[in-house]
Amino acid sequence: MSIVHAKDTPYTWGYYGELSPIFLNYVSALNGHHPVPLEDSFSYCDLGCGFGVTTNGLAQLFPQGQFTGIDFNEDQITTATELAKDCGSTNVEFMALDINHVTDAELPQYDFIVLHGLFSWVDPGTRDNIRKFVADHLKADGLVYVSYNCMPGWAALAPLRDVVLTHTAGMTTDNLIKTQAGLDYLDFMATNNAAFFVDNPPAREFLEEIKSKDIEYVTHELFVDSSKAYYFHQVAAEMRSAGLSYSGSADLHLNFIDLAVPAEFREILLQATSRLEYESRGDFIRNQRFRKDVFKNSRKTMSEEEQLETLSHIVFGTTCMVPEFQTNVAFGDVELNYAGDVFSGLIEVLATTPNSAAELVQMDQFKSYGLDLVIDALKFLSAGGQVVPMRADAKGRTELDIEADRYAFTASFNIQLLKRRLLRQDALGQVAPKAGIGLSVSMADALFALCLVEASKEEVPNWAFQRLLEARQEMKFEGGTETEAIADAVEKFRQTRLPKFLELGILEPAN
Ligand SMILES: C[S@@+](CC[C@H](N)C(=O)[O-])C[C@H]1O[C@@H](n2cnc3c(N)ncnc32)[C@H](O)[C@@H]1O
Repeated sequence: MSIVHAKDTPYTWGYYGELSPIFLNYVSALNGHHPVPLEDSFSYCDLGCGFGVTTNGLAQLFPQGQFTGIDFNEDQITTATELAKDCGSTNVEFMALDINHVTDAELPQYDFIVLHGLFSWVDPGTRDNIRKFVADHLKADGLVYVSYNCMPGWAALAPLRDVVLTHTAGMTTDNLIKTQAGLDYLDFMATNNAAFFVDNPPAREFLEEIKSKDIEYVTHELFVDSSKAYYFHQVAAEMRSAGLSYSGSADLHLNFIDLAVPAEFREILLQATSRLEYESRGDFIRNQRFRKDVFKNSRKTMSEEEQLETLSHIVFGTTCMVPEFQTNVAFGDVELNYAGDVFSGLIEVLATTPNSAAELVQMDQFKSYGLDLVIDALKFLSAGGQVVPMRADAKGRTELDIEADRYAFTASFNIQLLKRRLLRQDALGQVAPKAGIGLSVSMADALFALCLVEASKEEVPNWAFQRLLEARQEMKFEGGTETEAIADAVEKFRQTRLPKFLELGILEPAN
């Protein structure tokens, strides 16, 4: 059977906001654990960093941090290093190292170690070495993020990998062509109702999902040398042997019982006698297939007062403006409607003025709710992903100038990523230094932001048209000419996205 090697297949250029130190600290605080202080210098290691997109973005957001990206794919490390150099970042370094030989390198201890898309896709020996690395290199109060395919959700999906590997075993073509052949084969089976797909509806959903992803992603998901889905308790046991204990989930809703499972299961979840049992029950109820877990080194927990104090000072803002804010959100089978005055009031305020619960509760409109309720409302809002924790100094309203003739990017990372990836993927990471967050923005938004930087106000639609022409891409539009459709889309961007880009600090008016 021929299997491709992760080392030979480049990964995608995704940006993952959950890897941010602010976000990981929020998960930790939600679960009663001390956040890592970010005011002064801190250290951060991304194991299996791919092209270093997230690591490079974070390095720009946190100049006080020292970032290290490690990956055994030398081409990816070269690309990540060039990106850092072109961004002018001096607080990030990338190392072409196999985790299995990492002990040879003189590496320090880190406040954060993140493993995104690694743990499920390496062989048992490598996993042992990851565990050893974490045990040796995480500081006493540090946090670890680990994402992985998990059971029981993967039970219905694992056979798909076997099917495509068997189907493409004799092919001598390149990895991506093989992957496409494997997908086409699965598609044929699903379309013609092969019994496996009929009996396993999640497998059909999964196929539809991966068909819409970058082909490189699918290669890593289905064709990588090793692939294993874990039960939470297995990963927790491995982490325990590295001295770590579970803090919480970077899928924020899983930290809140009301959102983690439908109402009829809450009682049985509450009866769990340990966090391990709680998480395992939840995974079964949800048929969870992917987990994003945060573990901590320290056994210290915050007192209730300390936790309240910490949560009350976390600053939140929104990633979109009020008209675009989705007030109905679904977490699997649990639906939440941000109805009621407290939610609508918070959305209204935070959409223009990032703030903390401690300050919100001073405002007349929230005084009567009290601090606990405002914190709870913020928890529920943050679970939906449109309200996010930000830098402490992101507070306050920004004067917005949406009529400037030209704009500038505030971070070189944004322009460098656009240079490399414009119109080559669906979404692009853009960092907002003022807010201290990175966002995965739609490629149309990224294109318009670039055009607002490169062209004067009058020229923007024409500029966007030329960019699309060069990339041989069209915009989908209804009626009118393509240039008219682009002009409309640019105007919509100015009204709905530009104010947010300015408030968060992705763009600023050019002098
Ligand atoms: C699925 S990708 C995830 C990349 C990145 N974390 C992201 O989310 O974009 C896994 C990465 O781990 C790297 N990797 C796999 N095994 C490794 C090893 N033994 N040592 C170092 N890197 C490894 C691969 O080269 C690949 O870039």
